[in-house]
Amino acid sequence: WVLMVTAQTPTNIAVIKYWGKRDETLILPVNDSISVTLDPDHLCTTTTVAVSPSFDQDRMWLNGKEISLGGGRYQNCLKEIRSRACDVEDKEKGIKIEKKDWQKLHLHIASFNNFPTAAGLASSAAGFACLVFSLAKLMNLKENQSQLSAIARQGSGSACRSLFGGFVKWIMGKEGNGSDSLAVQLVDEEHWNDLVIIIAVVSSRQKETSSTTGMRESVETSLLLQHRAKEVVPKRIVQMEEAIQNHDFSSFAQLTCADSNQFHAVCLDTSPPIFYMNDTSHRIISYVERWNRSVGSPQVAYTFDAGPNAVLIARNRKIATELLQRLLFFFPPNSETDLNSYVLGDKSI
Ligand code: DP6
Repeated sequence: WVLMVTAQTPTNIAVIKYWGKRDETLILPVNDSISVTLDPDHLCTTTTVAVSPSFDQDRMWLNGKEISLGGGRYQNCLKEIRSRACDVEDKEKGIKIEKKDWQKLHLHIASFNNFPTAAGLASSAAGFACLVFSLAKLMNLKENQSQLSAIARQGSGSACRSLFGGFVKWIMGKEGNGSDSLAVQLVDEEHWNDLVIIIAVVSSRQKETSSTTGMRESVETSLLLQHRAKEVVPKRIVQMEEAIQNHDFSSFAQLTCADSNQFHAVCLDTSPPIFYMNDTSHRIISYVERWNRSVGSPQVAYTFDAGPNAVLIARNRKIATELLQRLLFFFPPNSETDLNSYVLGDKSI
């Protein structure tokens, strides 16, 4: 027999960034972060997990290619989930798995991203969130979404925020064992459904410095990171939560853009400096800043993760249409700017 579960998880975009760990193994951050979860139709991971007594080892395939489960992060997630597994019974199929059996049974995991990995868009967030969620269903875990987020966190920090839709806060926590470092939903997907997200895929090249390596170097060398984590982010988190509760797009955009810019300033303050944005990214920032100023209030927010792709958040559908027209005119794909395409990551979650 084979027992299977399939789940789908969208990716999330941080509007107050996570950058820096206080514990590298448990993946505990130096500050809280806030993100918005995208609509699963656009950018998501679909994962099928299967268990069968005929499987002789744990195996995983990513986009059809087998990958090693040897890395510590996969093993940590699998260990955490197996230790919480419960009895499972499928009467129709006549299958009964007892709690203790999960330690011996092996798993096959197949995971697909519905966007090209080559597009350089973050996939680890949706990937680990989906892996943890589907395994939790298969093994009948009793933990709630926040408790599961603390397991997904050990796969990739940003993954813990993809267990919820809407706006999500990853609380950094204080405990040394990471038990209070987990995600909570601030508001659900219906709360602010005017927002529309457009991603400008500026370059499909693999980033030179991974987030994991980049943030390690920033923690070791950047004084600005210390100041940001202690003084800046705690205040911004409070203001961002307020802006989200009140649908205050002006404050939301101002905080989102400022936080993205400070994150990239931390990267420049790292030794040796890390450059994630390129000329096209900078031109998009200038363009959005000029547009917002010319209208007198923000219409679009921008944010950039560990790469040159621009995530643009329009205040409503009408502005999103205008934004896309302007982008296609001023930043046409396949021009000398290295821009490939635009991806609509509607925030209806
Ligand atoms: C810039 O979650 O990819 O996207 O925890 O080492 O796997 P690891 O890092 P990762 O870092 C994401 C960094 C970011 C900001 C964010 O998503 O908050």
